[in-house]
Amino acid sequence: MTKKEFGPQPWLFPSPTVLVGTLVDGKADFAPYAWCGIAGGEPPAVSVAVRHQRHTLKGIRQNRAFSVNIPSVDLIRETDYCGMVSGAQADKVKDCGFKVYYGGLKTAPLIEQCPVNLECEVLHLLNVGIHMLVIGKIIQSHVSEDCLTDGQPDIMKIRPFVYSRGPAARYNAVGEVLGRAYDIGKGMKQ
Ligand SMILES: Cc1cc2nc3c(=O)[nH]c(=O)nc-3n(C[C@H](O)[C@H](O)[C@H](O)COP(=O)(O)O)c2cc1C
Repeated sequence: MTKKEFGPQPWLFPSPTVLVGTLVDGKADFAPYAWCGIAGGEPPAVSVAVRHQRHTLKGIRQNRAFSVNIPSVDLIRETDYCGMVSGAQADKVKDCGFKVYYGGLKTAPLIEQCPVNLECEVLHLLNVGIHMLVIGKIIQSHVSEDCLTDGQPDIMKIRPFVYSRGPAARYNAVGEVLGRAYDIGKGMKQ
């Protein structure tokens, strides 16, 4: 077996691609974040690693609230665009034609076209070098009805996409079903 060492790298393959929504000086802003994940189950929580200079972080600090919106492959161009311009310079909502709505948290803008939307309150801000790790407590989740199967969110209908940096930074679709979790390995139990 031959392995090449790369030194310490934050390489979790794959990374989700989400659009984080914030209200900055009263205006909705959205940007893609791939360094994010589930942070806990009780309370339900997510984490996003946000560079200190992001307009997004300004909104998070102003309101102690944000949203996580899961774009489907239909929004791949808009998502990528939102990662190349700052809300400090552009009106990304207008440029992308996002339909913005609000749930219970009036300072966490949500995108109607994204099949899954999570409203979050800031639980912790943790300084991790060049990033601020934002931990959000999820206070409500919204799922488009046409993305449900038997009343539950269905990844094959949500059609999210993932981000990876290698071999070139790019997006991949989520592929076919391989088996049932907590089931496919059962035959290996003694
Ligand atoms: C696919 C993708 C993933 C990204 N992930 C992150 C991330 O995890 N953390 C981060 O600070 N910036 C990330 N960025 C960069 C921000 O999205 C980008 O700087 C954006 O323009 C910030 O917008 P804002 O200034 O309106 O907050 C990512 C960009 C792309 C295209």
